[in-house]
Amino acid sequence: TAGVARTPLALAFESIAGSRSDAIVVPEGYRAQVLLPWGTPLNDKAPAWREDLDPTPEGQANSVGMHHDGMHAFALDEANASRRFLLAMNNEYIDQAALWAARGGATNASEGARPADEARTEINAHGVTVVEVRKDEQGRWSHVTDSPYNRRITSATEMALGGPVAGSEYVRTRFSPDGTRTRGTNNNCANGFTPWGTYLTCEENWPGYFIKRADRQADDDRLGIPEERGRYGWETAAADGEADDEFSRFDATPRGDTAGDDYRNEPRTFGYIVEIDPYSGARAVKRTALGRFRHEGCWPGKLVAGEPVVFYSGHDSRNEYIYKFVSDARWDPADANRPGQEYDRLALGAKYMDQGTLYVARFDADGRGEWLPLTPDAVIADGRTLAKALGLAANDRAGVIIHTCDAADLLGATPMDRPEWGTVDPASGDVYMTLTNNSQRTEDGTAATFTHDGSGIEQRGVGYATAPTNAPNPRADNEAGQVIRWREGEGAAFSWEVFVFGAAADDAGNLSGLTERNQFASPDGLWYDDRGDGQGILWIQTDNGYAGVAEHTNDQLLAVVPQSVASGDGEAAVIGAGNQSQLRRFAVGPNGCEVTGIFATPDRTALFINIQHPGNWPAAEDATIAAQGSVRPRAATVVIQKVDGGPVAI
Ligand code: FEO
Ligand code: CA
Ligand code: CA
Ligand code: CA
Repeated sequence: TAGVARTPLALAFESIAGSRSDAIVVPEGYRAQVLLPWGTPLNDKAPAWREDLDPTPEGQANSVGMHHDGMHAFALDEANASRRFLLAMNNEYIDQAALWAARGGATNASEGARPADEARTEINAHGVTVVEVRKDEQGRWSHVTDSPYNRRITSATEMALGGPVAGSEYVRTRFSPDGTRTRGTNNNCANGFTPWGTYLTCEENWPGYFIKRADRQADDDRLGIPEERGRYGWETAAADGEADDEFSRFDATPRGDTAGDDYRNEPRTFGYIVEIDPYSGARAVKRTALGRFRHEGCWPGKLVAGEPVVFYSGHDSRNEYIYKFVSDARWDPADANRPGQEYDRLALGAKYMDQGTLYVARFDADGRGEWLPLTPDAVIADGRTLAKALGLAANDRAGVIIHTCDAADLLGATPMDRPEWGTVDPASGDVYMTLTNNSQRTEDGTAATFTHDGSGIEQRGVGYATAPTNAPNPRADNEAGQVIRWREGEGAAFSWEVFVFGAAADDAGNLSGLTERNQFASPDGLWYDDRGDGQGILWIQTDNGYAGVAEHTNDQLLAVVPQSVASGDGEAAVIGAGNQSQLRRFAVGPNGCEVTGIFATPDRTALFINIQHPGNWPAAEDATIAAQGSVRPRAATVVIQKVDGGPVAI
């Protein structure tokens, strides 16, 4: 049909140079404000932040958590959604040196018993922060201290289990003999959100927080639960007074006669997508139907009235998989979020996320692919059912979820280069996902001998399988990563292509023709910023450990306007076809950090990102100011706005 001629979307900033400094760099005409750094009090139960603050469990439970990651904004009233909203933010893990700077570091960090108060404080520094934020007349952002919405959800907060695993024998513990509840969420990396107004926080590197010395099950080894000491040794702490399970629950070694006597099943209450209603104090729910693994994040697919609701999720570990959940319930637009109102959104979560089918992706070399259902009766290559091959009862849906990764192996899913964030173009339905890097990818699948590791400082599990190169993951020893995209086809079919390969400009393997102005490696955060008329900006954030790029620039935020939709021919066409100059570097973070977490206000005048694990930052509320000496580093949100107040990037 003939329409009004539209103005093609174009980036209206020049790609900035790489930077290696203790400051944030943004294009000319922009400013960057630090907001909500770790330790910012949310209410009057927490002390004001000081450079020499020695945190306490109560103070940390009432202030912003550490190591900001994924985040999302929830409007309180739509008319003012660009000036005032609830910010829900993940606090992925901790930097013990910064947390315990006032006492010269953590006590017994690597051996011996951890003091109970230190373990409690660290537990309270993890999880999720919900906080009301607003913008004043000068365009300066702040949070609302003592807002009734301000809330912390930590690695100790009681939560419910929903979906097939809830109430099953797999999750019976002394705390919840009927297997319906657990305590805490952990290593909340990327995030998601739902159309009905809830926040999704995703449990990524949680296995490292538990130990299991004996009676190890297949899933303990598959997911990498340590045998000896947890990441921060919380299991070694002893609660004051009578013996209880505040800390011993992190040790899953069986001690009693049955599962209801001990915590052998505690790790099986982790590894899920967790749904939080930011508008209420309701108990969060772990939505087990979406699978159990190291969930990076969770993103809703294109929403269509009368069709199922779809969520995509990646397992961020070397040679792990990409998943899709399809709800049984059909989307009813009457269930859309009503901002600012309190009602039972988690009942809608149960409606759309507790019953449905989980699929895993197989990518074929010809640019096609297929979603493979993880149902007990799915038939695998040798003719057995998935349930039989896993040694489960014929209708054991909970067992398939507990053993999601083994089930995906049996179905012949395609091992990927560490799936991180995904995002969806709401017009075309194209899904983009970052594949950050993979040191365990070889030409022929023989064991890798590469000694470096692009995973930064995040702790990973043990026993990664090595995999041979394949079409969507074509580079052995992949240090720089790539972004792929796919489009759903008929039934379980989809088509895919590589959107852009990361590289250093002078790499022989610079497959997308990157230059000094847009070279990047280890793409991680990702957001399709829909600007209407079927056009949008794809924002790419990095978490890079590859020296080829790191010697030129710190981690960064890039932007590109995709010039076409997915062609599905399996070839890397878009950036590589002469559009390299369209990929532009918008911001560079301070030394030591990764850049992660992203959204913008509805009017697009303020872009919010997170700076995680900075080395010596922030020195001032102006994020572009570098410290003169050394400061106690604090992860923080950064708000980037145009000096003239207009929309960012265009
Ligand atoms: Fe926490 Fe996969 O990044
Ligand atoms: Ca991280
Ligand atoms: Ca990440
Ligand atoms: Ca990462």
